[in-house]
Amino acid sequence: MCGIVCYVGSREAKPILIDGLKQLEYRGYDSAGIAIQNQGQVQRFRAVGRIVELEKKINSIPLPGKVGMAHTRWATHGEPSELNAHPHADQEEKVFIVHNGIIENYHQIKKRLEKKGVEFSSETDTEVLAHLIALYFDGDLGEAVRRTMADVEGTFGIAVLHRDAPGQIVVARRGSPLVIGISNDGHFAASDVSAMVRHTSQVVHLQDNEMAVITRDDFSITTAQAKLIQRAVEEVEWKAEDAELNGFPHYMLKEIYEQPETIENAMRGRLEPGEGVPKLGGITPVWDRLKECRHLVMVACGTSYYAGCVGRYLFERLTEVDTEVELASEFRYRKLNFPPNTFILALSQSGETADTLAAIREARRKGAGLLGIVNVVGSSIARETDAGIYNHAGPEIGVASTKIFTSQLTILTLLALLIGRHQNLPLTEGITAIRALQALPHQVREILAQAHHIEAIAEKYHKCQNWLFLGRKYNYPIAMEGALKLKEISYIHAEGYAAGEMKHGPIALINPDMPTVAIAPMDEMYEKMLSNIQEIKSRKGPVIAIVTKGDEKVKELADEVIEVPTTVDYLYPILTVIPCQLLAYYCASLLGRDIDKPRNLAKSVTVE
Ligand code: F6R
Repeated sequence: MCGIVCYVGSREAKPILIDGLKQLEYRGYDSAGIAIQNQGQVQRFRAVGRIVELEKKINSIPLPGKVGMAHTRWATHGEPSELNAHPHADQEEKVFIVHNGIIENYHQIKKRLEKKGVEFSSETDTEVLAHLIALYFDGDLGEAVRRTMADVEGTFGIAVLHRDAPGQIVVARRGSPLVIGISNDGHFAASDVSAMVRHTSQVVHLQDNEMAVITRDDFSITTAQAKLIQRAVEEVEWKAEDAELNGFPHYMLKEIYEQPETIENAMRGRLEPGEGVPKLGGITPVWDRLKECRHLVMVACGTSYYAGCVGRYLFERLTEVDTEVELASEFRYRKLNFPPNTFILALSQSGETADTLAAIREARRKGAGLLGIVNVVGSSIARETDAGIYNHAGPEIGVASTKIFTSQLTILTLLALLIGRHQNLPLTEGITAIRALQALPHQVREILAQAHHIEAIAEKYHKCQNWLFLGRKYNYPIAMEGALKLKEISYIHAEGYAAGEMKHGPIALINPDMPTVAIAPMDEMYEKMLSNIQEIKSRKGPVIAIVTKGDEKVKELADEVIEVPTTVDYLYPILTVIPCQLLAYYCASLLGRDIDKPRNLAKSVTVE
């Protein structure tokens, strides 16, 4: 949600910032703005809509200056408008600030400032920060930011520049990510490394309640109490090309096609076929406790939550661990008992999802061990868990998550297998699982080779207004994920149901205009899914069935069939989700939707 990029260096800031904003646009895209400092002046421009609108506005305006900041917004307080867009400024237009997050006590601060005669020009919570910093500034911008941090409650990642503090930007964070980038010609700061990965791979992550003063030649990090922090520089493993489209029309399609490789990356160096036991170096610090674990609670949101739902069945199948999965946003409302040796496992692509972060903090207070499966290295969840496993899947830029879902499922299988083999899972089962895992990348390629067939199905049904997705057991979460994918990028109404629930309500909806995607591979649920398909057909509902290659029975009944290769029952979700992703993609594409930036959504939900 919202993106920040800043530069202080020896090059002109404008092109660097605009390019950085474009890399961040997936985080929010209802308005954007830029402020550039030059010779005692700061010029600010803001525009509603995508970055191109801002670009059009400033294209012909000379904007010299080697110090600047830019922001792309996902509205929380106040509609998307130019006045509400960042950077915000104080009344005298000396302080300029960009902000991600939410200032919870902004009403109180606003009232206090209004009493002092301050006039507000926007409906945002952010503006209070600009006025506070202006109030506290007496020549030392870092100090003014520090005093402001002490006044505010809520979450923030901020970058601030001041007309009277030339050549520097001050950044600070509490709950919203900020990374400093180090290059030969200056320093960067951004909410996400993708904004600067073209210029540098050397980064330093700011932690909560820390701030940094950044200049062309230096940066210094301090705590909110002014204690100096020395932090090691990290090397970003992503390359600039990872964030390019490479000939694909959309990031979502590119990321769907990357899955053979990202599944492979999730397993790379982690398989020991002979022993039927994976190796997961990241969990070594907690292994002694984890191998005795009898109670695991997975927490996540959205697509990552559906991965957790598959994970529950996986853990029940391969281990003796009692496993639950909770929506992170609901976790704190539950009165869960944590028996000794309970572990919480957070699943998150971004590692910054506010609800997931809040859930692990709550679990920490209750004394549980904390594990993470996270894609973004150095992210908050990665840092706040005791141990974890990285996806190593590269940046996921399409707002709809695809490659991370299959990567999460692969890693969940490895983790379940590792714990299961230390409990009672026999060697033969371990070996079978590893062989099946090794076959996945090739099997995913086989499914991707049917893209034209899936596109033709989308052609036939994309105008239908309502869709149903059905599955059982391992594939019940795939029904929910398939429905989520379709609704979020095509805006078609879709529901994912456990197929056994169909008779308890949704069957009333079945008619010739409502397609059902029935996920019915040849697993132990097959016969039951067959009955569901028959029930839909006898009510003249069109059925698009996802089946195991060679299935003849479903073929006779269903209107459309998409085949996936044979695997073990618990790995089918990694295969059956691919046709769902492609169906959603092609429907959205035929409807002319903005696939990588669907309306109202943003990648990385850093507000609760
Ligand atoms: C849907 C989607 C979201 C995310 C959710 C959690 O396609 O991408 O539902 O899965 O916002 O995000 P992470 O995994 O970053 O915690």
